[in-house]
Amino acid sequence: MTGTEKSDHGQWSSRFAFILAATGSAVGLGNIWKFPYITGENGGGAFVIVYLLCVLLIGIPIMMAETMLGRRTRQNPIDTMITLSDEVGADKNWHYLGWMGVIAGFLILSYYSVIAGWASAYVLKAFTGSFFAADASEIKGLFDGLIASPIQLIFWHSLFMLATMSIVARGVKTGIEKAVRFLMPSLFVMLILLVAYAMTTGSYDQGLKFLFTPDFSKLTGDSVLTAMGHAFFTLSIGMGAIMVYGSYLPKDVSISKTVFLIAGTDTSVALLAGMAIFPIVFASGLEPAAGPGLIFQTLPIAFGNMTGGWLFGILFFVMLVFAALSSSISLIEPAVAWLVENKDMNRKQACIWSGSITWLLGFGTIFSFNIWSGLKIFDRTIFQLLDYLTANLMLPIGGFCIAVFAGWIMKRQHSEHELGMPNTLSYQVWKVLICYVAPAAVFLVFLHVVGVL
Ligand code: PHE
Repeated sequence: MTGTEKSDHGQWSSRFAFILAATGSAVGLGNIWKFPYITGENGGGAFVIVYLLCVLLIGIPIMMAETMLGRRTRQNPIDTMITLSDEVGADKNWHYLGWMGVIAGFLILSYYSVIAGWASAYVLKAFTGSFFAADASEIKGLFDGLIASPIQLIFWHSLFMLATMSIVARGVKTGIEKAVRFLMPSLFVMLILLVAYAMTTGSYDQGLKFLFTPDFSKLTGDSVLTAMGHAFFTLSIGMGAIMVYGSYLPKDVSISKTVFLIAGTDTSVALLAGMAIFPIVFASGLEPAAGPGLIFQTLPIAFGNMTGGWLFGILFFVMLVFAALSSSISLIEPAVAWLVENKDMNRKQACIWSGSITWLLGFGTIFSFNIWSGLKIFDRTIFQLLDYLTANLMLPIGGFCIAVFAGWIMKRQHSEHELGMPNTLSYQVWKVLICYVAPAAVFLVFLHVVGVL
């Protein structure tokens, strides 16, 4: 151990365990629920290309940097930034980066849990046969009925938060490893089967064309920001989740290979989800820009009309809830790790505190779909505002700061050592991306959105 490592927290049992947990964090509602609906709202192909470029040029280098920062200190994100800035005599204010991450985690989880609640409600709907032989308008009616009911939403949100808290209370290692090991491949297989179903709808070509043929005239400044923000969101970067997971990573693991694997899996899941959903959208005469309800208004049509759809529908929504759980636990882990390491709390107490705050915050999102749907702040409902603030602003700002810190503040020999690729070509490429490309790209997109560029 070097002087920078004062950790009383756990360690993954292996590289594989980290891959599972980090993939579990990355793959979630972002891939299956959010990616299709924002792609639909932002015109398809061109948006997808910008998103893919952002993953490759901004997301992957920052994910490597974030993992590396966490692993170097083996502490929670706030203390990581304190320790690392002390190490090189840099400004103390860097620890605000950790704080912003903790706050972003609360805010994201507050709405994430509500949407995961929808998915949980759909397990029951699938089970009771609600989708059977239903057409698009009946399926839409089911969805509208659910979100119009604060009581139902509160129930499912509470259930999901309780599940998240009880897993996190037991520690990041137990449970997650086993669940993700089995669930991730199953989810993958399900999606491939759904894509196969999509091929039979008669609108497969149209769906694929929408997803992969770019029409750059559809791209606005705000869609570029959304695509970039989503690259951060889907990889779970910019808020400390990957940093805290990195802090449990054994020293001898290659960060670059691991990160490529995780980002590759994450991207494939999102693309598969898009390939399954858009053909159904077109075949059923639905609107690609239907918004956050998109998957809940399309996939049940498939389940209601295909052979074996009853079982398939149940399994799919169960998987989706588990994918959401393996992400939600990483959203409060930075706060929990900080409380445990600084406030003399055990994991259980830390979970109760952070979980309760998030649970309460979730009411804002719940009501924004019904009793407060008319309430607009900066022209957005509370849910839309939270999503914009976190995914489009806080995560990119957090990622920008991580890039600047890893590229410019941290000593070169330290990053070379941590990444385990001293002076290789891959290191040089990473260094250029993290010092120049990633921060400049984030900065330019922001300038464009505020109208300076
Ligand atoms: N990456 C997760 C998803 O796609 C969401 C997430 C964001 C998790 C940020 C942790 C941190 O669903």
